[in-house]
Amino acid sequence: MLYDNHGRIINYVRLAVTDRCNLRCFYCMPEEGIDYIPRKELLSYEEMERVIALLASMGISKLRITGGEPFVRKGMLEFMQRLSEIEGIEQMHLTTNGTLTAGMVPELKRIGFKSINLSMDTLDKERFFQITRRDYFDTVWQTFEELVAGGITTKINAVVMEGKNIDDLIPMAELTKKYPVNVRFIEEMPFNGEGSHYPTLEWNSRKIVSYLKEHYPKLEKIPDPKHSTSANYKIPGYQGSIGVIAAFSRSFCGSCNRIRLTPQGMLKTCLYDNGVFNIKDFIRNGATDEELKGAFLSALGNRAKDGFEAERRRGFDRPVTESMSTIGG
Ligand code: GTP
Ligand code: 5AD
Ligand code: SF4
Repeated sequence: MLYDNHGRIINYVRLAVTDRCNLRCFYCMPEEGIDYIPRKELLSYEEMERVIALLASMGISKLRITGGEPFVRKGMLEFMQRLSEIEGIEQMHLTTNGTLTAGMVPELKRIGFKSINLSMDTLDKERFFQITRRDYFDTVWQTFEELVAGGITTKINAVVMEGKNIDDLIPMAELTKKYPVNVRFIEEMPFNGEGSHYPTLEWNSRKIVSYLKEHYPKLEKIPDPKHSTSANYKIPGYQGSIGVIAAFSRSFCGSCNRIRLTPQGMLKTCLYDNGVFNIKDFIRNGATDEELKGAFLSALGNRAKDGFEAERRRGFDRPVTESMSTIGG
């Protein structure tokens, strides 16, 4: 088993397989997009497989594929299949925007995804266009229906933004009446690729919960799964549940069990750090598995205690403004 210098177990890796995306979500990228990483600077499938297999041998058992949008990268399903066969990887998860996944549910089930997190910030087609700058609502909704019909455990991720989707909070909470899904409202973080439209966090988790409680006085707190990013609630009698993720307030760092690999091969031991180790250069310079193992252990032995410390360590000349698509969320 792997532990960090604060005694936290590390058993979850988030692998961002590409920085590319076919949407332009307001909270993630500027309208004109970001400068994408040239292909040869991305980790190759073979390099990712090697690193994940090594991490699995060290104690990582949960793997989440993120992006950008994973399915923008060619050959993704085949790659996911290979990852799922790695010894020690017991749980495969996926975070996707759902635009390229319609019709794919049988394959996703065959690969054995334990759950799929779908980014869907609104139920309104017009607002979807305003937020993502693309007209894909119907496709994403189709993916949602197919996931639920296919019996895949589904979570919906909705970033809460003043002036954008507040009117959606209740209709989205209402989804849990008909569907056995977990709808998660997320605090907006400044990872928007520009940093210019981030004044103060208007909707923090406390305000989101108060708002929900005003509408649902019987909203019930339910137990949170171990290492959960969300504080979870239920409307009595409804099938699904509601989660609130204090992603910017960072109240769950104490039980953080995850590390990240960015598409360009940086290891991040916290979402808020600037990348603590360049794995790609290390392996392209011929590092052996033993050396790579040593590098992981040393990074975990110097892990920031929380997202605030990780951010402080970056120094003030490096504000946290990179696009979420280059980190993987
Ligand atoms: P589960 O494995 O289902 O618990 O999902 P998850 O919440 O780990 O993953 P997901 O990709 O669905 O992320 C949901 C939101 O939580 C995104 O906005 C992420 O950026 C945020 N998030 C995930 N992990 C962390 C973390 O370690 N720290 C912070 N601050 N936010 C995180
Ligand atoms: N703040 C909070 N959450 C974000 N995501 C993307 N950008 C941001 C941001 N700036 C979320 C998306 C996606 C998840 C991986 O990260 O909703 O589902
Ligand atoms: Fe694409 Fe996800 Fe970023 Fe939206 S949040 S632009 S779907 S990577």
